[in-house]
Amino acid sequence: MPKIDPRLSIAPMMNWTDRHCRVFHRLLSKKTLLYSEMITSGAIINGNRDQLLRFNEIEHPVALQIGGSNPWEVSEASKIGIDFGYDEINLNLGCPSDRVQSGCFGATLMKEPKLVFDCLSRMKKEVKNAKITVKCRLGVDDQDPEVTLPAFLEYLISAGVDGIIIHARKALLKGLTPKQNRDIPNLDYELVIEMKKRFPQTEIVINGGINNLTEANRFLNDGLDGVMIGRAAYYNPHHILLLADKEIFEKELVNTTMKDVLAQFCEYIECELERGTRLNKMTRHILGAFNGVSGSRHFRRILSQNAHRPGADISVVKEAIDKVCHNRYW
Ligand SMILES: Cc1cc2nc3c(=O)[nH]c(=O)nc-3n(C[C@H](O)[C@H](O)[C@H](O)COP(=O)(O)O)c2cc1C
Repeated sequence: MPKIDPRLSIAPMMNWTDRHCRVFHRLLSKKTLLYSEMITSGAIINGNRDQLLRFNEIEHPVALQIGGSNPWEVSEASKIGIDFGYDEINLNLGCPSDRVQSGCFGATLMKEPKLVFDCLSRMKKEVKNAKITVKCRLGVDDQDPEVTLPAFLEYLISAGVDGIIIHARKALLKGLTPKQNRDIPNLDYELVIEMKKRFPQTEIVINGGINNLTEANRFLNDGLDGVMIGRAAYYNPHHILLLADKEIFEKELVNTTMKDVLAQFCEYIECELERGTRLNKMTRHILGAFNGVSGSRHFRRILSQNAHRPGADISVVKEAIDKVCHNRYW
């Protein structure tokens, strides 16, 4: 199985981590592992695969997150994903939305360990040489995670899972929206660290509320194999992705600035515009590029007001970039 470095990854985020976002993130960090949005196994099997799964070669290493609970379907979808070139397949066991619950997948599967075992063992059998991981919560509803989480992990491990990402809070399936479920249930980082001690041979990655690389490095020093960051990386890509290769992966900083990255992203945008992609589908992901820098509000305003207009082209992005005061760092 090809080795994928799990030390830092960007979380799967529906409507956010699409292929345009991932290209932008990859230009900021060569090493950080990127995840797709969740795509259901049914859509992968029956839908327009090119539209759903297409990605840019520069995105590697990139993982595909699948939602589903039918062992045949998830294993078939995994095979399709690997044939498409994804480096890892991740099964979603943490999403609490109603739509996902009615399809009986996502977080609700934490109550169905035997079914999860069947899904994972079949996925492993179908794509023998690929890395299969899961992303779960500490538990759901009235489960006591101190008891149920280690028992659940034992199922995952016995099915042959190659890595477990734990969003360090419970999901409450009734009464909270998915957004509230990302903030309201308490974070319990200690329990995740405890799981790594209990299952030292298993790759365990922590997720939830991690805001910067200093915190990330602290978790790595605590023994965890990796840290997954979602919202903070999306909103402040310069604080996380632009510094990740040096601060997490100990690579020499290749003097990249946000301005250099955006110059490269402009080339990507021009190619995509020629293929018919709308400008705002790409620029929506760079609105936070200069957060905290003089001119950043102006940058955002030019993009927000103009990028959605019919015929909007690269000149909109270039004008926006010109409004930001560049110092050495940017
Ligand atoms: C807009 C949005 C969409 C999300 N979509 C997914 C998803 O498709 N699959 C998934 O496993 N988690 C999803 N999540 C949850 C994140 O992967 C992550 O677990 C959560 O945001 C906590 O990490 P953070 O505090 O670093 O953001 C989503 C989060 C956000 C903000």
